[in-house]
Amino acid sequence: MSSKINTNKDEVFKEEINKVSDFKFGSKVAGVFDDMVSRSVPYYGEIQRMTAELAADHVQKGTDIYDLGCSTGTTMIGMNSLVDEDIRFIGIDDSVEMLEKCHSKLKEVGVKRPFDLRVADLNTGVEITNASVVVLCLTLQFVRPIAREKLLKTIVDGLVPGGVLIISEKILAEESLFNRDFIKYYYNYKRRNNYSEMEISQKREALENVLIPYKLNENIHMLREAGFDHCETFFKWYNFSGVIAVKK
Ligand SMILES: C[S@@+](CC[C@H](N)C(=O)[O-])C[C@H]1O[C@@H](n2cnc3c(N)ncnc32)[C@H](O)[C@@H]1O
Repeated sequence: MSSKINTNKDEVFKEEINKVSDFKFGSKVAGVFDDMVSRSVPYYGEIQRMTAELAADHVQKGTDIYDLGCSTGTTMIGMNSLVDEDIRFIGIDDSVEMLEKCHSKLKEVGVKRPFDLRVADLNTGVEITNASVVVLCLTLQFVRPIAREKLLKTIVDGLVPGGVLIISEKILAEESLFNRDFIKYYYNYKRRNNYSEMEISQKREALENVLIPYKLNENIHMLREAGFDHCETFFKWYNFSGVIAVKK
């Protein structure tokens, strides 16, 4: 993707920080987010590609596609070339800085369809209506656990019959025995992407109370409880997964 505004290198945790505070999606992170996420999430590009092709196959005429926690709009840009131009995209995020980047990127790549970018907090409730596809890519993990079930119910209620949720998350192993190995492989992945030991450990500390992963089966259970009738895992790499959930 050729975007001048988003090619900045992630050096947020490069220098030693005296007291690491909780991770925030403010201007510092928004400015380097695309580099950060592609160096921090294994197969990020493939997850985006799969999300777009799944969305294209499930979108329904006369409905909207929602991207919750849309960040800089990478998913919407991926879907743009595969989904009919009458379909409106609605991107939601609680970070104004992310939505500003998102707006510039959508304009830069020449998105012509109607789109609406909304500032809203997924912890406190969000309005979803007439959706055939809802995307939650690496976002539910940042929603407070107590608010997750309600958010999933809101999504089910806002989907038309046959509508889908495409959700990708950082996860815990089903058996805690494997967590240590999976984390080791994950940090090795980050090292291969040129993150230093200090960057890895400072970011881990910053995310500790902010990113709360569940097990894949816990997420699937929560999706079924919320009212989804079919759930299928479409992506899995150690501690990352993607699931598509269908409302009948
Ligand atoms: C890891 S990023 C998501 C990446 C993005 N979906 C993608 O595919 O590239 C998480 C996003 O969720 C947003 N977010 C986190 N908590 C939120 C909340 N409670 N309400 C709305 N957005 C939230 C953050 O601002 C951030 O942009």
